[in-house]
Amino acid sequence: MLELITAIIKPHKLDDVKEALLANGVEGMTVTEVRGFGRQRGKTENFRGSEYKIDLIPKMKIEIVVAAETADHLIAVIVEAARTGKIGDGKVWKMAIDGLTRVRTGEMGSEAI
Ligand SMILES: Nc1ncnc2c1ncn2[C@@H]1O[C@H](COP(=O)(O)OP(=O)(O)OP(=O)(O)O)[C@@H](O)[C@H]1O
Ligand SMILES: [Mg+2]
Repeated sequence: MLELITAIIKPHKLDDVKEALLANGVEGMTVTEVRGFGRQRGKTENFRGSEYKIDLIPKMKIEIVVAAETADHLIAVIVEAARTGKIGDGKVWKMAIDGLTRVRTGEMGSEAI
């Protein structure tokens, strides 16, 4: 079984999270620059802007497809590496995925991780 872990983290934590994942056996990931807000609506992270406008704060999104039995451990690794203790540290979620294929070889499922 395969899971997709998606992590939204502070950009300056990307290297720490990447190194921690590599040290825990992860061999591939996708990283995307994104913008978002949480329950403070982007406010107290950034004092610029109007009271009423929601600020979209730059974040990094990390996506990794992993064997299901490793997912919860890897989420804990991400959380530990990404945490500053201040608001806006991010979110991590996982979802079961149906399939994965390595394009070069055609391997499928966990063989393709
Ligand atoms: N419910 C959500 N669904 C999707 N993305 C979210 C959600 N909540 C937060 N995010 C993403 O995570 C980023 C960081 O969220 P953030 O850490 O501020 O969440 P929070 O719930 O406000 O927690 P905190 O109180 O620690 O700030 C947001 O900028 C957004 O990109
Ligand atoms: Mg927040």
